[in-house]
Amino acid sequence: MYAQMVDTGLAKVEDLDALPPAERAFPARIDADVKIEPQDDMPEAYRRTLVRQIQQHAHSEIVGMLPEGNWVTRAPSLKRKAILMAKIQDEAGHGLYLYSAAETLGVSRDAMTGDLLAGKVKYSSIFNYPTLTWADIGAIGWLVDGAAIMNQIPLCRCSYGPYARAMIRICKEESFHQRQGFDIMMAMCAGTPAQKAMAQDALDRWWWPSVMMFGPSDAQSVHSAQSARWKIKLLSNDELRQRFVDQTVPQAEYLGLRIPDADLAWNPERGHYDFGAIDWDEFYAVIKGHGPCNRERIEVRRKAWDDGAWVREAALAHAAKRAARTDDAAEAA
Ligand SMILES: [Fe+2]
Ligand SMILES: [Fe+2]
Repeated sequence: MYAQMVDTGLAKVEDLDALPPAERAFPARIDADVKIEPQDDMPEAYRRTLVRQIQQHAHSEIVGMLPEGNWVTRAPSLKRKAILMAKIQDEAGHGLYLYSAAETLGVSRDAMTGDLLAGKVKYSSIFNYPTLTWADIGAIGWLVDGAAIMNQIPLCRCSYGPYARAMIRICKEESFHQRQGFDIMMAMCAGTPAQKAMAQDALDRWWWPSVMMFGPSDAQSVHSAQSARWKIKLLSNDELRQRFVDQTVPQAEYLGLRIPDADLAWNPERGHYDFGAIDWDEFYAVIKGHGPCNRERIEVRRKAWDDGAWVREAALAHAAKRAARTDDAAEAA
């Protein structure tokens, strides 16, 4: 998802009964649904896993601004431009809430940015695909923000307080994002045959990367069990993916668009849609840095970091001056 393949660093899932009595308080608290707060004792592996997960999530929000930023100057009307700018600003805000949530676990924002720019920490694979037409902005809001909501609503109930609380506001904004995307798709599908063809082309290109966003299938997802035990992953990758497909297929039908999957069919016995095989080779290639835009995305972030150096320096100099003035005033008093 926005945080994909987060490794807990543990060889096997903790078993409450097998733990020494002194170490049972933490899992017992998780089981009782009492939120963990920054000042509370927590196992190092829990802290580290959360730092990785929240950090990946924050980077995804920030890098996710780039494919859409590409269309701010070319949005088809002033109204669409204003809506898109508001949406992109929301994503910056999501990044900030999440960096702040991660900082409560004792990691600095500078260190997290350093890890992103050094390629040590990933962001969601979806943002390494290009936005070729205006319809792509519709498809991203509809599919990518739609998938984000699917993943993030359960996280509002996750065990770590600052992360759960950040998610509540983020989810409210994500539902606006999903609707603005669907609204673009509706306008294009009700437009000229050329506009409808653009909408179909965008769906054709974004469908499979969106389905892949939920990460490897449960059978391959070796690190999920401990995260589920800690309640920082509340539904499995395959459960979330199935929910996404079930929700999205009727929306595509409403738009009069065809989902690019010959195996997609309603399964009355399961009460869910069956869907075709996912090209995991593509997913892993993109994760490893070989997607269409990986290099470009990191270059843009690196430039933003370098160009912002003078702002950081000025802010630090200003803070130091103010502190010195306060010290002088205290001495004079
Ligand atoms: Fe977001
Ligand atoms: Fe969003």
